[in-house]
Amino acid sequence: MAVSVEHDVHAPLPFTPAVAERTEAARQRLDGIIPAFEWPLVAPEIDAIARLKRERNAIVLAHNYQTPEIYHGVADIVGDSLALARKAAETDADVIVQAGVHFMAETSKILCPDKTVLIPDTGAGCSLADSITGADVRAMRAAYPGVPIVTYVNTSAEVKAESDICCTSGNAIKIVESLGVKRVIMIPDRYLASYVASKTDIEIVTWQGQCEVHERFDANDIQGYRDAVDGVVVIAHPECPPEVIAASDFAGSTAEMATYVKEKRPARVLLLTECSMSDNIAAEAPDVEFMKPCGLCPHMKLMSLPKIRRALETLQPQVTVDPAIAEKARVAVERMLAVK
Ligand code: 13P
Ligand code: SF4
Repeated sequence: MAVSVEHDVHAPLPFTPAVAERTEAARQRLDGIIPAFEWPLVAPEIDAIARLKRERNAIVLAHNYQTPEIYHGVADIVGDSLALARKAAETDADVIVQAGVHFMAETSKILCPDKTVLIPDTGAGCSLADSITGADVRAMRAAYPGVPIVTYVNTSAEVKAESDICCTSGNAIKIVESLGVKRVIMIPDRYLASYVASKTDIEIVTWQGQCEVHERFDANDIQGYRDAVDGVVVIAHPECPPEVIAASDFAGSTAEMATYVKEKRPARVLLLTECSMSDNIAAEAPDVEFMKPCGLCPHMKLMSLPKIRRALETLQPQVTVDPAIAEKARVAVERMLAVK
């Protein structure tokens, strides 16, 4: 009987002097973040991915929650959901590797239907995207006739297709205000909706979705940090519960958090968001001390260098969106991108 041998994506690639030389710039960016003993495992993956990207005319779009070896090692574009959507719409690459979660890859595919969009692990979902279906959105539209539906990008293409306009955490207030109405439906994150409601006079009807990472932060813990850590600056993502945001010094999207820290350089900072954010900013702001009561997003953490390499080698798994759904979803995403 024939024997078929599976290629082991986790089998280490050789760390040669040539690999060390080609990856020296990445090593310097990751100095102090990746332990020296791990570099011989990481560097050959970074080197192989760089070669495959050239061969495939591919780019890696990495969300701010990706681990440092992805974020600083192989990403061509890093950022929050808004920046990644904007860059996907602009790229000349033939292949997009989405180092993030499935809804982000779907957004890239919606914006670039003719490109190959790869998600290195198809299990990378999102509790917000899972909280609502297209049928739920249709029911809300029927219950609130004439009220525009603003949908967070953390949703499936099917849900976007039922919506009037999308938003991200970085532009939600601006999008809601751009509509010029007194009442909007904003789905599916009830905490993002309540954050936006706290910043505008517009009435907001929402859904019961929440992020499984950010919902766990607790306002009582913030006071504990303030008591224990002199002058700590507390920054929360708008997906956190309202009492956590109220107890923080600043709230913003992942890109806004990074900009705040890099510009203001607080001596000590507490980021109430996914774990890798602190590590990624620390590589660029070594003078800032990060408290790390982070939450780990199990979906974001399904990405790895070997899986990104494997996706580029095989051009799989590809993200597909039904063209009829994609066409309607594109209208909602492009309306968002048109709001400056
Ligand atoms: P932003 O990067 O857009 O702030 O989103 C955070 C998030 O949870 C993405 O899944
Ligand atoms: Fe979804 Fe929360 Fe993970 Fe972001 S951090 S992908 S909102 S589960």
